[in-house]
Amino acid sequence: MAAVIQTRDLTKAYNGQVVVDRLNLEVEEGEIFGFLGPNGAGKTTTLLMLLGLTEPTAGTARVLGHDPVREPLAVKRQVGYLPEHVGFYSDLTARENLAYVGRLNQIPEEELPRRVEECLEAVGLAAEADKLAGAYSRGMRQRLGIAELLIKQPKLVFLDEPTLGLDPDGINRMLEMIVTLSRERGMTVVVSSHLLHQVQRICQRVGIMMGGRLVAVGTIEELARQAAGGDHEPSLEDIYMRYFREG
Ligand SMILES: Nc1ncnc2c1ncn2[C@@H]1O[C@H](COP(=O)(O)OP(=O)(O)OP(=O)(O)O)[C@@H](O)[C@H]1O
Ligand SMILES: [Mg+2]
Repeated sequence: MAAVIQTRDLTKAYNGQVVVDRLNLEVEEGEIFGFLGPNGAGKTTTLLMLLGLTEPTAGTARVLGHDPVREPLAVKRQVGYLPEHVGFYSDLTARENLAYVGRLNQIPEEELPRRVEECLEAVGLAAEADKLAGAYSRGMRQRLGIAELLIKQPKLVFLDEPTLGLDPDGINRMLEMIVTLSRERGMTVVVSSHLLHQVQRICQRVGIMMGGRLVAVGTIEELARQAAGGDHEPSLEDIYMRYFREG
């Protein structure tokens, strides 16, 4: 399996305070990787460095074979990003917002309508595509955010807390959509979250970050085996809490 993300001692400090501490991480092609950790652990900061949106203080990263510091455009062209807070033009419809993002990404005009339609279908918004984005509910906004990142047909996507603020049905639909996209398009997905059962439902491998350090990485079964010792099979929650207490 080829690594689509590879970091070597990737480090970020703000005003001398280290918030990502010598991160060594590999994510393989086609997997859904869960990036776990409590508030302030450094998850978003890591994603921003991998996207070339913030510069590391030390260390290196390769994303789809590119260095995000030296070749940020090459990375941005191929990587989709759903930020923690998605923003749209509220006085444009969902379809218009998508077309706008498509043009920004240099999708040829003749291909654009088909691509927009396909993305609306993929996220289940086709019937509501002509509503103003400003009138969208939280769940619809999250889905429009996914549609926007799909328009450039990325090989790799970063979803930062994609289910935040969604109701239980919205959460289920989002998780199913992530699995479907990964399966049908062979996309590699990195999902950051602190919602453990959600991650457990869709991720093959997880990394747990605490205070800027990657304290554990592996399949949920591998982490469970390392944490074993009790008389029951530990859940991801048990594993997480163990690192949390040791953290
Ligand atoms: N622009 C910034 N300037 C200074 N400090 C920052 C900046 N961005 C993040 N930090 C700090 O870096 C640390 C890690 O933040 P980060 O946003 O990466 O955490 P996170 O794991 O994404 O947390 P959450 O689960 O709350 O989203 C925090 O202590 C935060 O205050
Ligand atoms: Mg964050």
